[in-house]
Amino acid sequence: MTHVISIINLKGGVGKTQTTIALSEFLAANYNKKVLIIDLDPQTNATVSLMDENRWLEQDKKGNTVFQLFSDKVYNTKLFNIDNSIVKNVSNIDSGIKNLDLLPSSLRLIDIQDKLPLVSNSGYFIKTPITILKESLANVITNYDYVIIDCPPNLGLITLSGIFISDYYLIPTIPDILSTYGIPQILTRINAFKNDAGINIRPLGIVISMFRSNNRLHNSIVESLKYKERKGDYPRIFDTYIPLSVKISEAAEYQAGVKTLPQKYGYELYDRYNHLVEEVLKYVE
Ligand SMILES: Nc1ncnc2c1ncn2[C@@H]1O[C@H](COP(=O)(O)OP(=O)(O)O)[C@@H](O)[C@H]1O
Ligand SMILES: [Mg+2]
Repeated sequence: MTHVISIINLKGGVGKTQTTIALSEFLAANYNKKVLIIDLDPQTNATVSLMDENRWLEQDKKGNTVFQLFSDKVYNTKLFNIDNSIVKNVSNIDSGIKNLDLLPSSLRLIDIQDKLPLVSNSGYFIKTPITILKESLANVITNYDYVIIDCPPNLGLITLSGIFISDYYLIPTIPDILSTYGIPQILTRINAFKNDAGINIRPLGIVISMFRSNNRLHNSIVESLKYKERKGDYPRIFDTYIPLSVKISEAAEYQAGVKTLPQKYGYELYDRYNHLVEEVLKYVE
C-alpha cells in the first residue's frame, strides 16, 4: 500500500524542503521503503539538492519535469511522460540512495502557475488541473511505499493537485510567531477542500523545526502549540523536535559529496530524524 504525505506550510523558510528530503532519505536508506519525492515548488530547492544540476537542466529542456504536466493542461498538449521524468536513486549521498526517486520541479512552473486558474471553470473540482497529478501517476504510484510531496508555501492549484492525492499532510514549523501564524488557515482550508473534493486526507501532525532549546520564545511557542493540541484545535505535535544545526545547511548542497547519512547530518540530527521517521511509521502504518 502506498502512503502519500504532503509537506506544507504557508510560510517559506520553515523547513518544508529539509523535512521532505530527510524523511525520504531515512525511509529509503534506513527503513527499506521505496520512496518517491514530488517537488511541486517552483523554487526547485528539493530538486537541486537531490540531483546534479546539469542533468536537471537537460531534463527540464526536454519537458521531463512537473512543469510539462501542468503546461500540457494549459496548452492542451500531451508532452509529459512520467517514465522519462522520474529520476531514480537520487540524493547527494554517495552515488544516490537506492529506492529513492524524484519527480523534479522546474523554475518554469512559476509562469504556468498564473495561467492554471484559467483552465478551471467551476470551483475547485471537476476536470480542473487538480486531478492531473493523480492521472499522471496512475501507473507508477503503486511501485512506492511512500510518496512525499514538497509543496510551495501556498494553497494554489498546484499544491491542491498534490493534496488531492495525499493521505496525510505534515506541517513543519519553526516555533516562532510568523511560522505558526498560518496553521489555523491550513487546517481550515484543507478541511474545506477535503469536503469539496471528496478525499480522505488527514493531518499527520506538526513537526518543530530549527528548534533552539535555549530560546525563550521557541519554548513558549512550543508550549502554546501543545496546549492547542490538547484542546483538540491542532493535530499532534511530534515528540521529536529538529534542532537548528549548521551541519544541515552545508549538507543540503548537492556538491557536498557525503558518503553516509550520519556524515551528512551529524550524529545528533541523524538520531533525531530516525526518531521522527519512527513516529511517522507508527502513525501511518
Ligand atoms: N534544522 C535546521 N538547522 C539549520 N538550518 C536548517 C534546518 N532546516 C532547514 N534549514 C535551512 O533553512 C533554510 C530553509 O529551509 P527549507 O527546508 O528550504 O525551508 P522551506 O522549504 O520551508 O522554504 C534552508 O537553507 C535549509 O538548509
Ligand atoms: Mg522549500
